[in-house]
Amino acid sequence: MSIDESTTNEQLIGRADLNDLEAILAVSASDQQESIRAVEDHADAIFTWDYEKGARPALNKLYEKAKVSMWNGETDLPWDTVVDQEQVARDNMALGTFGDADLSHTPFAKWGDKEWTNLGMEFQNWSLSQFMHGEQGALICTAQIVETVPWIDAKYYAATQVMDEARHVEVFAKYLDTKLNGHYPINAHLKMLLDDIINDSRWDMTYLGMQIMVEGLALAAFGLAMQVTPDPLLKKLLRYVMSDEARHVAFGVLSLKEFYDGLSDKEMLERQEFAFEAAVRMRDRFLQQEVWDRMGVDVKEAVKLFDMPAEIKNQDPFQQLLFSKIVPNCKKLGLLDANDGWLRKRFDVLGVTQFEDWADTGEEYLEMDAVTQDRLAAESA
Ligand SMILES: [Fe+2]
Ligand SMILES: [Fe+2]
Repeated sequence: MSIDESTTNEQLIGRADLNDLEAILAVSASDQQESIRAVEDHADAIFTWDYEKGARPALNKLYEKAKVSMWNGETDLPWDTVVDQEQVARDNMALGTFGDADLSHTPFAKWGDKEWTNLGMEFQNWSLSQFMHGEQGALICTAQIVETVPWIDAKYYAATQVMDEARHVEVFAKYLDTKLNGHYPINAHLKMLLDDIINDSRWDMTYLGMQIMVEGLALAAFGLAMQVTPDPLLKKLLRYVMSDEARHVAFGVLSLKEFYDGLSDKEMLERQEFAFEAAVRMRDRFLQQEVWDRMGVDVKEAVKLFDMPAEIKNQDPFQQLLFSKIVPNCKKLGLLDANDGWLRKRFDVLGVTQFEDWADTGEEYLEMDAVTQDRLAAESA
């Protein structure tokens, strides 16, 4: 199939120019008042009568690993840590690049330390809130995989992931409630992506959207957040969550590898398009538009002042690193190069293809098992 026959940006993302700022900001969070939200899933619940455990050895190994690497969000984290959110915000803001823009003749010219510190706290509230909402998305998607995947080893493993995700939602919610000073509703771009993943009736699309794309990005984002936070509680929380997330991404890679080997070019193209759409939606949410709104400044003005133009942003190391797990995993699955490199060409535009030969997550989870490492260290102490 030639890539000319594939879907256009307009059809995939809803805009012809991927970097059309007006169009990105026009998507705003709606239904903030609702306490629940219903999303239709169109998938069949699949029973299997083939109970042979270990028919897929790599998934069986992952399942056994998951059983012994469970942790308790209430008792394994140092919740008695005192978190000085203002100080954390000041530390985080000192790492940022806000001082570089010319702020004279803008609303920010009048801002003092208090406003900048508040902004830092809101960024934190926003980020942790999005982590929490994403975790709930993972909880729901993985429960869906328990129903829809036809293999018993995958159902077993997915069941352990459901427990992991419940714990992740729990610890992020507790951190927000007890250590930070506000919540945010789900970002509109993240919500659209989760809706698309849940809506799709094909079981492998749930994996691709959640385990490969959302969790691949989360694994990289948590890693970056863990490195910069001065708070020992958040550091340990993220380290333990990442230890689980590495298994989850491996679950996606190991399951899809087998399934994709049997797909036609046309079916692969549909997966490539889905991966590309997910990548753009995740990139769009980095604008953190809801924070500017809450700070009472014009969102477009703030974004134009502080957000890098797309050509530069695509060269930004931080932005690029967020895709450092997704790209090698897409390559391993054959998504990068199928159909004359359809996805490779688009990832080139996003400036992320350079990660293609980084470690994929199919085996990396063994090195990232922080829970087991801590237990062994405690035993030998
Ligand atoms: Fe998670
Ligand atoms: Fe996960």
